[in-house]
Amino acid sequence: MTVPDGSPFRGKSVMVVGGSRGIGAAIVTSFAAAGATVRFTYAGSRGAAEALAASTGSVAVQADAADRDRLLASVREAGELDVFVYNAGLLGGGDPLTLDPDAVDRLIDVNVRGAYHGSVEAARQMINGGRIIAIGSVHGDTMPFAGITAYGMSKSALQGLARGLARDFGPRGITVNVVQPGPTDTDMNPADGPLAQQMHDEMAIHRHGTAEEVASLVLYLASPPARGITGAMHTIDGGFGA
Ligand SMILES: NC(=O)c1ccc[n+]([C@@H]2O[C@H](COP(=O)([O-])OP(=O)(O)OC[C@H]3O[C@@H](n4cnc5c(N)ncnc54)[C@H](OP(=O)(O)O)[C@@H]3O)[C@@H](O)[C@H]2O)c1
Repeated sequence: MTVPDGSPFRGKSVMVVGGSRGIGAAIVTSFAAAGATVRFTYAGSRGAAEALAASTGSVAVQADAADRDRLLASVREAGELDVFVYNAGLLGGGDPLTLDPDAVDRLIDVNVRGAYHGSVEAARQMINGGRIIAIGSVHGDTMPFAGITAYGMSKSALQGLARGLARDFGPRGITVNVVQPGPTDTDMNPADGPLAQQMHDEMAIHRHGTAEEVASLVLYLASPPARGITGAMHTIDGGFGA
């Protein structure tokens, strides 16, 4: 892999929680291609994680983001950090009257508790400034369908996390932001899935976004020109919520 001349990420230390597939894998790939030293976690997709690590020169670490001790250990093992991306997320939809409460609790553990604890621990590992970026969702702002209450609630929680930590860590030059994708072609939401047409009808740009498009926004927020952007939500949804 040839790193572009003048890349601001050359030699920077990046950690991605939940990087084995989809948007997380695109973020890992993009930072590695830009010359960063990248470490990422995964929960169950060992094969995908090992293949990604081999093809990008990154390090894959098995760590369930719902396991706080394991998550914190994985952040500490990364050493000094320049960029921390919390991408791990579960969707899990259905009628709240019949949804398995344990599944809802796991969604909250992965989408919210892990984001809070991981981000705080990452800030301890940031010496000179730093960037914390959580992957939220357009559903943190809008709820066009029934059946995704817990998911939307979890993504709205990330907004409070970013606003609060931006204040807590701003004096240290650390920025904290949320990237909010709309329909993006991954295993979670395939562009040819059963609800795809319904989603496309709601969008200004009638197609799924790509994981690479989301990764580009993440890299921008981590780049030097974005040093004044913090406590903010950055929606990339093809006009789904417009
Ligand atoms: N795709 C969309 O349309 C869309 C739209 C808005 C927001 N988002 C958000 O974007 C993020 C990535 O979504 P995606 O579409 O790329 O999903 P995906 O294809 O299902 O991939 C999810 C990634 O998160 C990891 N992960 C899940 N649970 C984890 C856990 N407990 N511990 C560690 N890693 C875990 C998975 O690793 P393993 O496979 O190893 O478990 C995988 O690498 C999520 O936060 C999602 O809510 C997605």
